[in-house]
Amino acid sequence: MPKIAFIGAGRMASAIVAGLLDQKVAAPADLACLGGDDDTAKQLVARTGIRLCADLPALLDGADLVVLAFKPQHLASADPRLAELTAGKLVLSILAGKPLSALAKVFPQARNLVRTMPNTPGQIGAGITGWCSLSALSAADTALVESLLGALGRHVAVDETQIDAITAVSGSGPAYVFEFTAALRAAGIDAGLSPEAAHDLALATVIGSAKLMERTGTEPEELRNQVTSPNGTTYAGLQVMAAKDFRGLVRDTVLAAKKRSEELSRD
Ligand SMILES: NC(=O)c1ccc[n+]([C@@H]2O[C@H](COP(=O)([O-])OP(=O)(O)OC[C@H]3O[C@@H](n4cnc5c(N)ncnc54)[C@H](OP(=O)(O)O)[C@@H]3O)[C@@H](O)[C@H]2O)c1
Repeated sequence: MPKIAFIGAGRMASAIVAGLLDQKVAAPADLACLGGDDDTAKQLVARTGIRLCADLPALLDGADLVVLAFKPQHLASADPRLAELTAGKLVLSILAGKPLSALAKVFPQARNLVRTMPNTPGQIGAGITGWCSLSALSAADTALVESLLGALGRHVAVDETQIDAITAVSGSGPAYVFEFTAALRAAGIDAGLSPEAAHDLALATVIGSAKLMERTGTEPEELRNQVTSPNGTTYAGLQVMAAKDFRGLVRDTVLAAKKRSEELSRD
């Protein structure tokens, strides 16, 4: 595995580092990081044994792949030396809302640029990441990108025009699932359960249903139908979801997130 440099050492960088080390795709000596003003980088180094670098020249010296894992708003004030320091290197960004065209202005001499949209289940290797590159990747760089993103879970190569929709579905999607879970828990309390029981039942239901979908590969509608007897309890509940246009609500949620992603990409 070539040397990988992480600029930013927060949650997402930590998830990638942990996955690369857990899966033995990289050794601690292959990985180095640099954080901002707080001590996230020191914490990551203490947890994993990867190298801590004091500045960009030290970080990027000898690195072949550079992972951008800071907050998107820091791209505008990125150190101008990065253009030179990343010459000939592969630069992979996980910055939300930063198109390849914006990255190309900051990293004009990189050998290629990769834009990704991971999601938070990547922290436990259960994520899915959409990615695209500025120009066609060599076979070796494709393998490099795939082994890095594999640290977070599944990955899918897409056209950049799809990234805003991917952001709205899988990037923001975990928040919708968490919100649904919290709503199911609150509804359980309203229905007469103790808060503890409602918590356990709501979480176990969401997790169990997700595993059932994964393990059986059966369509969600089919699984829904299997729990729904004519005029039974589930039917009564689903009737309310349909009357209140649950699907319309989810569609509007996703379209609002997509629109915001498009706006952020233009800023
Ligand atoms: N979390 C998600 O679900 C998710 C999903 C998709 C994409 N992303 C993207 O992933 C990126 C990182 O998110 P995160 O959740 O990992 O954020 P985070 O935990 O807040 O980490 C941000 C890191 O950037 C460092 N940093 C701050 N200022 C910097 C600067 N000027 N130059 C270089 N590094 C700097 C921070 O260091 P200190 O704190 O030590 O100062 C910290 O290590 C974001 O761009 C986000 O859009 C996140």
